[in-house]
Amino acid sequence: MKRLTACLFALTLGFGPAAAQDADPALGEQLFARYCATCHGASAMGDGPRVNELNPQPPDLTRLTIRHNGVFPVERVVMRIDGRDPLVSHGSSMPVYGELFDEAPWVATKTEAGQPILTSGPVVDLLAWLRKIQVKE
Ligand code: HEC
Repeated sequence: MKRLTACLFALTLGFGPAAAQDADPALGEQLFARYCATCHGASAMGDGPRVNELNPQPPDLTRLTIRHNGVFPVERVVMRIDGRDPLVSHGSSMPVYGELFDEAPWVATKTEAGQPILTSGPVVDLLAWLRKIQVKE
C-alpha cells in the first residue's frame, strides 16, 4: 500500500508543474549528440563512429515508427533509455545513463496507448527529438 501511495504521489507530481513544461526536441538533440551519437550516429541512423566495434549493431532510430506499424513506440523507447528494459549494449542491468537521468526530476509522459509513464525530463526531451526525426518510408 505504501508503494502504491508513493506511486500515486509521484504521478500527481508528474502531472503537476513538471508536466506543464514542454518537451524540448532541441535539447533532446543536444543530449543525443552527447550521449548517443557515438554509436547511433549524429542523425540516429545507426552509423556512429563506434559502429564497427558493436555487436549487435545499433538500430536506425529514425525508423522506429515504421518498424512498429506506424506508431512511435514511446513505452519501448523510454524503457530502453532509462534502463527499465535493459540492453546489454546500453550497460546491461546497470545502465550507463541511469544515473544521469535519475538525477533529473521525474516527468509524466504518455505511451502510445495513452497510458501515463514516468521517466526523467531528459528522456522526454530525447523522445521529442526522436519522434521528430522519424521517417515516413
Ligand atoms: C555504446 C553504444 C551505444 C550508445 C552510447 C547508445 N546506444 Fe542505443 N543501442 C545500441 C545498440 C548496439 C542497440 C541495439 C542493441 C540491442 O537491440 O540489443 C541500441 C538500441 C537502442 C534502442 C532500441 C531500439 C529498438 O528498436 O528497440 C533505443 C531506443 C536506443 N538504443 C536509444 C539510445 C539513446 C537515446 C542513447 C543515448 C541516451 C543510446 N541509445 C546510446 C548502442 C548504443
